[in-house]
Amino acid sequence: MKIRIGVIFGGRSGEHEVSVRSAKTVIEQIDRDKYSVIPVAITKHGNWLSPSESAKWLPPETISRFSDDIASIGKGDVGLVGDTKFKGLTRFQDDAGSSGERTITFDVVFPVLHGTFGEDGTIQGLFEMAGIPYIGCGVLASSCGMDKVVMKTLFREAALPICKYTWFLRKDFESNPEAVLAGIQSAVGFPCFVKPANLGSSVGVSRAIDAGSLKDAVILAAGFDRKIIVEEALEMREIECAVLGNDQPEASRPGEYLIRDNSKAFLDYTEKYAGTGNNEFVVPAPVSSELEDRIRTMAVAAFKAIDGSGLARVDFFLRNDNGALLVNEINTMPGLTDASGYPKMWAGSGKPFSAVIDRLVEFAIERHKDRERNKTSWS
Ligand SMILES: Nc1ncnc2c1ncn2[C@@H]1O[C@H](COP(=O)(O)OP(=O)(O)O)[C@@H](O)[C@H]1O
Ligand SMILES: [Mg+2]
Repeated sequence: MKIRIGVIFGGRSGEHEVSVRSAKTVIEQIDRDKYSVIPVAITKHGNWLSPSESAKWLPPETISRFSDDIASIGKGDVGLVGDTKFKGLTRFQDDAGSSGERTITFDVVFPVLHGTFGEDGTIQGLFEMAGIPYIGCGVLASSCGMDKVVMKTLFREAALPICKYTWFLRKDFESNPEAVLAGIQSAVGFPCFVKPANLGSSVGVSRAIDAGSLKDAVILAAGFDRKIIVEEALEMREIECAVLGNDQPEASRPGEYLIRDNSKAFLDYTEKYAGTGNNEFVVPAPVSSELEDRIRTMAVAAFKAIDGSGLARVDFFLRNDNGALLVNEINTMPGLTDASGYPKMWAGSGKPFSAVIDRLVEFAIERHKDRERNKTSWS
């Protein structure tokens, strides 16, 4: 019997399009002999589509290997949240707009979702409630990895080096903007980076060089989140490392974004995902073996600091001025497109992405079984 994987993608986040691209790569790389794939697309409004509707979001050549699997699901079949007996999911709307009675079961689900409502622990909570094994970090690690302030607090606790930063609530800024702006200037100074605490893909992120641009940057970030973080802006190299595993995770060889056009202030959303050709991701990163070891050790430590499982990508800054290596952030559902760092770093470490997916499925099932071992009653 093949293992049936539900690949969930799209979603209610600013990274909806990246997620669709990541799902495409995942589905193309999944081993057809071992797995059957049922695609589940979530619209930007949060509607879950039926497998046959979901398949239409992907190129026919991507999904064709699994068309028999998809056709085997009746139009009226549903996955229902909260009923562990059925390992159900949520109610699919069938193509006619009404819901049926039967339930689709999954052996494992792969939430290939980035950002809000996908990478932040919310959908992971849904899977926990439904008792379905799922790929990637659990509720706690996902939500801690999403919040840049909580994440940094955990990194500091794990003695991982991080940059200078401060944070505040949007409400604080709205009630006393002058005090908040003055506080940032004394805690961090200029130039600085202003970011919404809970977003990814550089959305709402900007660089401030003086009081005027700081105010604009804060107003921009405050449009995206109730919590805002401000960091010292560094001149640095951006190095990444892929992590795979549960309680004994392993780190890949690191990769580095080499930027061709230095006129760009930082790797914004377009630079990273639109394939502008302005940057190149190189594996292994051109660093000494001593530094590579340190990167890999710190990547595993960052993963453990948030209590990660399955996979994550840890992003580093290598400072130009003093050579210090700092952890910037951890991404619990990193981009998985064919242009993304995570698959490229494993490929550069001798693990093709299809083998990585195999391991991810094993880790998801292992973690699920480990949780089932826990006693739920005592007397
Ligand atoms: N403190 C900083 N100094 C210099 N550049 C930064 C700093 N923080 C972020 N950047 C730039 O902005 C990009 C996005 O910031 P990041 O913290 O990675 O947020 P996201 O979650 O959006 O990826 C980084 O990849 C980097 O190019
Ligand atoms: Mg980043």
